[in-house]
Amino acid sequence: MSMLDVMRRLQAAMPAGTQPKFKNAEELMAWQLEQGRIDSQRIAEQNRLTRLQKVLGRSGIQELHQSCTFDNYNAELPGQRHALEKSKAYANRFGSGFGGFIFSGGCGTGKNHLAAAIGNQLLSSGKSVLVVTVPDLMMRFRETYQDGAKTTEAKLMDDLCNVDLLVLDDIGVQRGNTNEGVVLFQIVDRRLASKKSVGMLTNLDAPALRELLGERIMDRMTMDSGMWINFDWASYRRKVKS
Ligand SMILES: Nc1ncnc2c1ncn2[C@@H]1O[C@H](COP(=O)(O)OP(=O)(O)OP(=O)(O)O)[C@@H](O)[C@H]1O
Ligand SMILES: [Mg+2]
Repeated sequence: MSMLDVMRRLQAAMPAGTQPKFKNAEELMAWQLEQGRIDSQRIAEQNRLTRLQKVLGRSGIQELHQSCTFDNYNAELPGQRHALEKSKAYANRFGSGFGGFIFSGGCGTGKNHLAAAIGNQLLSSGKSVLVVTVPDLMMRFRETYQDGAKTTEAKLMDDLCNVDLLVLDDIGVQRGNTNEGVVLFQIVDRRLASKKSVGMLTNLDAPALRELLGERIMDRMTMDSGMWINFDWASYRRKVKS
């Protein structure tokens, strides 16, 4: 059946008065090609996420943080309000630049909560998100060298570099691991080169993080409206217990 026949059939099937979406066979052909491109992108994205989930044994956001939202983040202190507003703004403008975020502060201050709230908002608008701890990531890289590995090092790197938002958690807990700096450098460098942002959660302060990641990464993380937020208040975990 020719394109023209398809057009005629479509037109005949439309209720009277409906404006056809395509005025000629070329437009229909262009539309079909575009749909094909969108479909194959969607399939590639789905495969990548399935592969990542298989390697990690879970979805993009840990179960513990899947219920974290901006609404259930309790912002009593000025610093918490600042962190909340900045995080909301980041989620709302996501995609308009490649600036990332660094949440730095002590245990239980809500870094994961707000990162997950950003991630959950993006997931609900169809973006792909992965929050992963650096020690977990390093283990997954080591696993790629074993017999019967679920993925290759190159593929894992590709997959990490292609998700819309990657949040690297617990940066700096494995100090002295020289590989960590190299792997992180590669991930951040590649993502930023293709204008994909990175989030970082850490207990380290600015000088310590700068020492671990190097000048170049730090500068690029804070470029293009990237933001650094200090979580300098007491642990929420203690608050819940008392
Ligand atoms: N302001 C807040 N409002 C509501 N819940 C909070 C708030 N801050 C933290 N929480 C909750 O407290 C728990 C600990 O917070 P979270 O895991 O985000 O801490 P963290 O900063 O990532 O700590 P760590 O450095 O130990 O990983 C989580 O269950 C989180 O949802
Ligand atoms: Mg945390």
